Amino acid sequence: MAEERPKSPRARLFVALDLPEEMREGIVAWGREALADPALRPVAPESLHVTLAFLGHRPEGEIEAIAEVVRRSAAPAPWVELLDPVQRPPRGRARLYALPALSPGAEALQAGLEQGLVEEGFYEPEKRPFWPHVTVARVRSEARGSRRPAVVSEAPGPIPPELAEPRISVRMTLYRSDLQPSGARYVPLAQVELPGGGGSEVN
Ligand code: 2AM
Repeated sequence: MAEERPKSPRARLFVALDLPEEMREGIVAWGREALADPALRPVAPESLHVTLAFLGHRPEGEIEAIAEVVRRSAAPAPWVELLDPVQRPPRGRARLYALPALSPGAEALQAGLEQGLVEEGFYEPEKRPFWPHVTVARVRSEARGSRRPAVVSEAPGPIPPELAEPRISVRMTLYRSDLQPSGARYVPLAQVELPGGGGSEVN
């Protein structure tokens, strides 16, 4: 029997800094016009976040231990300042649009989390440096079955001043990403309230 099921069930996992509600609402409001190009698939409001560590597929049996590392990595709730959208890759046809985030606190949080996950053997750090950002839209493919992105005729313009105001993010979440034909669905598995958020943030 064991030979028929060589692999334990796996889950696609990542850890993210959740954005405060006002920031997500601000992105959604801005995106109604800025992300209206038919080639764009805006990210669902509940999926707007700053990814801190993408773990890939891990055995489901590891989830509780990973959640424990996430809880242990709690650091002061970071300020996050969003910048105007950029495309990725930077040249040629865009695959996605993201708002870069200025946040020394998120960088510190990410560094501690990464160290904890690496020490426990759950994570292999990315070769490129951490780039704090919020993906706001992905580009649809040019044609069914094609991997080439469609042409975006109206790239998203700048964000309004209210959305550029720094805000504190008070929660870090371990998510499971379920891939579905309609896109990925992110299921929260463990949530950590970050200290020092003032306790007044409704998130
Ligand atoms: P992105 O938003 O910049 O695309 C779930 O897939 C989350 O993990 C997404 O927010 C995604 O970041 C992030 N992520 C980081 N590295 C990834 C990878 N190699 N594959 C898929 N998602 C990744």
